[in-house]
Amino acid sequence: MERQLVSLDRVGLADWRAVHSWASLAEVCRFQAWGPNTEGQTRAFVAAAVEAWSQVPQRRFAYAVRVGGDVVGMGELHVRSRGQRQGEITYVVHPRVWGQGVGTAIGRELLGRGFDELGLHRIHATCDPRNLASARVLGKLGMTREGRLRHTALIRDGWRDSEVFGILEDEWRAVGWTDRASGGACWDRDHF
Ligand SMILES: CC(C)(COP(=O)(O)OP(=O)(O)OC[C@H]1O[C@@H](n2cnc3c(N)ncnc32)[C@H](O)[C@@H]1OP(=O)(O)O)[C@@H](O)C(=O)NCCC(=O)NCCS
Repeated sequence: MERQLVSLDRVGLADWRAVHSWASLAEVCRFQAWGPNTEGQTRAFVAAAVEAWSQVPQRRFAYAVRVGGDVVGMGELHVRSRGQRQGEITYVVHPRVWGQGVGTAIGRELLGRGFDELGLHRIHATCDPRNLASARVLGKLGMTREGRLRHTALIRDGWRDSEVFGILEDEWRAVGWTDRASGGACWDRDHF
């Protein structure tokens, strides 16, 4: 049984090199409208993510994800409507640790913060229909596939669609994740 601690901390400017280690890889950007990044693009992305922490009201919460002290990914929580309590999550993991539960742990922590700390009512995420790993993560998080939006982004190989997954606050409470109190997200592969 594998169990490790995944921690999400406010992203900092010093994290840009770690971010670039995956944002410069074609396999990571395959279904995204961005990338592979130049160093300048990654620096600008990280600077904007850091700057968002000082905006009032804050709508973007960008976290560096650490496992064993190494930054291996990022997770973001976006408040799309404060009045309607709507949010969106996004995440990325370095390929060297794909398939070890990190993406799911990030998603779980982001949902917890969105519902428990920000008081959101609904949180959604989107992914390219071909992005089976991301769809699997969203399914493991207990999110419901709500439908497909067509031609939401023009990427390298043409127009891509977006599968929409959503979860409501009551559904999140029913899932009953309990080990967020440690300050990080523990994951246990046998539980997925
Ligand atoms: C999507 C992503 C975050 C997943 O990260 P991860 O740490 O590998 O996620 P997890 O290990 O928690 O779960 C991945 C699941 O997808 C499954 N999976 C991976 N590739 C798959 C494929 N081609 N077909 C079906 N399932 C697949 C894994 O087996 C695992 O499921 P399991 O636990 O039931 O075995 C990572 O692949 C990534 O960063 N991709 C590039 C960026 C991206 O697409 N971000 C999401 C934007 S929508």
